[in-house]
Amino acid sequence: MDEKNITTKILVKSYNELKDVEKQLVDLAKEATQDSYSPYSHFQVGAAILLENGVMIKGCNQENAAFPVGICAERAAIFNAGANYPDVPITCIAVTAFTQGDFVEDPCSPCGVCRQAILEFETRSGKPIKVMLVGKSKIYVLDTVKDLLPLCFTEF
Ligand code: THU
Repeated sequence: MDEKNITTKILVKSYNELKDVEKQLVDLAKEATQDSYSPYSHFQVGAAILLENGVMIKGCNQENAAFPVGICAERAAIFNAGANYPDVPITCIAVTAFTQGDFVEDPCSPCGVCRQAILEFETRSGKPIKVMLVGKSKIYVLDTVKDLLPLCFTEF
């Protein structure tokens, strides 16, 4: 028998350690939480995407009385990017959440479906997408979406 261990590099940064453009992206993700439509969960998620051409796109979760119809913030943002800038690579995504009157303490992490969706944009452009998971006092920074989805399914 053989054994394989998978390790994930996560940089834990404070807001002040980010580059200016990264700070702007985090600010935009936070701003996006305020437009969330989440009357069922009361969990307002915001995502912001930076494109290679400098454009930033925000998205937030949109819920529905028929629960599965709703969409997460990450996919709302990334599909917007795909629809409006299909040929421009994504360089970074920031995700955060606001609930019970405050931003979450622990960095907000995308669900499995969103990880798979973001990964497809990375494989499509062939360029890594930096991921910033934003909590109130710490930000997890990962170099690539693959770090969020080890042993991922890509093409067949
Ligand atoms: N949600 C997101 O927007 N992103 C995630 O990655 C996880 C969950 C949303 C979906 C739902 O509207 C609410 O958070 C509670 O699950």
